[in-house]
Amino acid sequence: MSLGNVQLKKICWNRPSNAASQHSRQITRLYCQPPTPHVDRPMSSTIVRRLLSTDQRRLAAHFQRLDRHSLHARFGAGISPYRASLYADSVFTAEALVYGAFPDGCLRAVAELRPLPNAWPKRAEAAFSVEPRWQGRGIGDRLMHRVLTVAQNRGIRELHLLCLPGNLRMQNLAQKHRARLHRLPGQVEAHLTRPFPTPFSITQEMAGEYRALADAMFQWRR
Ligand SMILES: CC(C)(COP(=O)(O)OP(=O)(O)OC[C@H]1O[C@@H](n2cnc3c(N)ncnc32)[C@H](O)[C@@H]1OP(=O)(O)O)[C@@H](O)C(=O)NCCC(=O)NCCS
Repeated sequence: MSLGNVQLKKICWNRPSNAASQHSRQITRLYCQPPTPHVDRPMSSTIVRRLLSTDQRRLAAHFQRLDRHSLHARFGAGISPYRASLYADSVFTAEALVYGAFPDGCLRAVAELRPLPNAWPKRAEAAFSVEPRWQGRGIGDRLMHRVLTVAQNRGIRELHLLCLPGNLRMQNLAQKHRARLHRLPGQVEAHLTRPFPTPFSITQEMAGEYRALADAMFQWRR
């Protein structure tokens, strides 16, 4: 949530112009295949991979598919899907590590990991978004696993996550991964500590990316 707060300070719930909403619809149409999610697929077939700047339009389309409640929970402010899709332009910076989950071949969930500059020991902020129809199916958990492994492999010792006090799902998800929760005015901060990298954690991350690559090649050949 906090990642959005930093960059979306000035953004409020604005209705996009006709041209903007037409553009949004085009993005959603182009980057939402297949249009109807197959929500009954087993989560084990969900591909989780790192997103790159070439995925920027997929990310924008994902933000546009979030409902008002999810947008509020993710960014901690009332922003429109269109404004959230503009945020996608600023996500891929040199430091940011962005991961996406593809349960039906489409980008349905995103996790951002942003290391805090000049922090020692190394610290980072994380934020998650899962599309409404895909929530409560274990995708957030898959992304959390990946983000924790990636953080560990980058020598990040502490992970911070901000969410709204009513966001029990996010709090439960964090606690499932042994987070300590701190109640602040108007928000809850979750702290997760990470051990030093191990050969196992490095292999785990590499295996995840290779699996995504192999799957992409397999789909391309079909
Ligand atoms: C919060 C969010 C990321 C969780 O992802 P998800 O895929 O829906 O969650 P999961 O299915 O992986 O559930 C993870 C855990 O949350 C808990 N959980 C699931 N559904 C829950 C519910 N309805 N109420 C409370 N806790 C719940 C469980 O502990 C679950 O673990 P379990 O399956 O082993 O029991 C997702 O719902 C989301 O994007 N919400 C909107 C945006 C947001 O809130 N972002 C967080 C701010 S950074």
